[in-house]
Amino acid sequence: AKRVGILTAGGDSPGLNAAIRGFGKAAIGHHGMELVGFQDGIRGLAENRYVELDSSSMSGILTVGGTILGTSRDKVHKMRVGDETKDMIPTIIENCEKDGLDGLVCIGGGGTAKNANRLAQAGLNVIHLPKTIDNDIAHTETSFGFSTALGIATEAIDRLHSTAHSHHRVIVVEIMGHKAGWLALGAGIAGGADIILLPEIPYSVDAIADSVRKRAASGHSFSVVAVAEGARDHQDSADLAAAEALVKGAGSPEAKNAAKSHRNSVIASHRGNAFKLAEALEAATGLESRVTVLGYVQRGGTPDAEDRLLGTILGGAGADLVADGHYGVTVASQSQAAVPVPLDDVAGNLKTVPLDHPWLSAARHVGTCMGD
Ligand code: F6P
Repeated sequence: AKRVGILTAGGDSPGLNAAIRGFGKAAIGHHGMELVGFQDGIRGLAENRYVELDSSSMSGILTVGGTILGTSRDKVHKMRVGDETKDMIPTIIENCEKDGLDGLVCIGGGGTAKNANRLAQAGLNVIHLPKTIDNDIAHTETSFGFSTALGIATEAIDRLHSTAHSHHRVIVVEIMGHKAGWLALGAGIAGGADIILLPEIPYSVDAIADSVRKRAASGHSFSVVAVAEGARDHQDSADLAAAEALVKGAGSPEAKNAAKSHRNSVIASHRGNAFKLAEALEAATGLESRVTVLGYVQRGGTPDAEDRLLGTILGGAGADLVADGHYGVTVASQSQAAVPVPLDDVAGNLKTVPLDHPWLSAARHVGTCMGD
């Protein structure tokens, strides 16, 4: 029987347990494999911390939020170990050999796809299942976690409307999504936000203030602004683009590291942009302006039906691929089907909102200000 390892890595997300269960039930029950679960993501893999999983481990977890295996944000080739940063790939390969593993399943987002690809390139039999509330993984139409987070963020916008209209306030609601605007755009449209700001479209405070004032003049003395955590005004977007260009252009490893730390400080200086925006809007419009940061509420709790379905479908398809010895792929979701896509095409390839996406035209058609 094949012996396979499974782990969850990166930010927790609804549907992780559904995917563990989807893979586990198919692998153990259908294909007769042995399964071990590494704890706390890539860290547990590097430290060889695992538990044997059997069919009873898969019971009762479908509806549970988070991940029964635990998770962490680590890089296989650059892991903090004490005071050092180490390349753990050789150790990981050794561990997998020692544990008698034929394959490894990595469930996670963009960072996990990169880790999985590095391990695959080093010779490990790896597959990747795409989870993230950000929906930013290339070649998969939807990643599990997105649908639930979309529902939560939409409900939050609904509820924020109560205070916005009752108090005649501007409410800026910060929505997750990393460098992509999928969650803010989807929830913004579904929740009827008046203004939606995305990383893909640099905003101007003047344009937003104008839209708030116009609404007030037409009798709507409140506005709800859905802002993606990665959204920036024109100046900040230009600063970040310049910092990213320095990283790309850097030659030596030293220059690259210096450029990266500069880029990171630019990003850090943009944190709290939602608060700066609210202050600027209050000054420009005279309406009281407040901020609500949705934060981890967006990824907590039980997955919705769609994420349970997706996790189960991709998990089961993943078990079939492992059974066939088909490795080095992300199990992508395309037109309702689970499709293996080479990890090399997925890793490092961020899926942001294209400027001609139907969701964007839908938002503009209902008169949403996009801040540009
Ligand atoms: O990738 C999921 C996500 O929730 C992003 O939306 C967000 O930028 C990030 O994780 C937050 O990371 P952390 O869990 O490390 O705070």
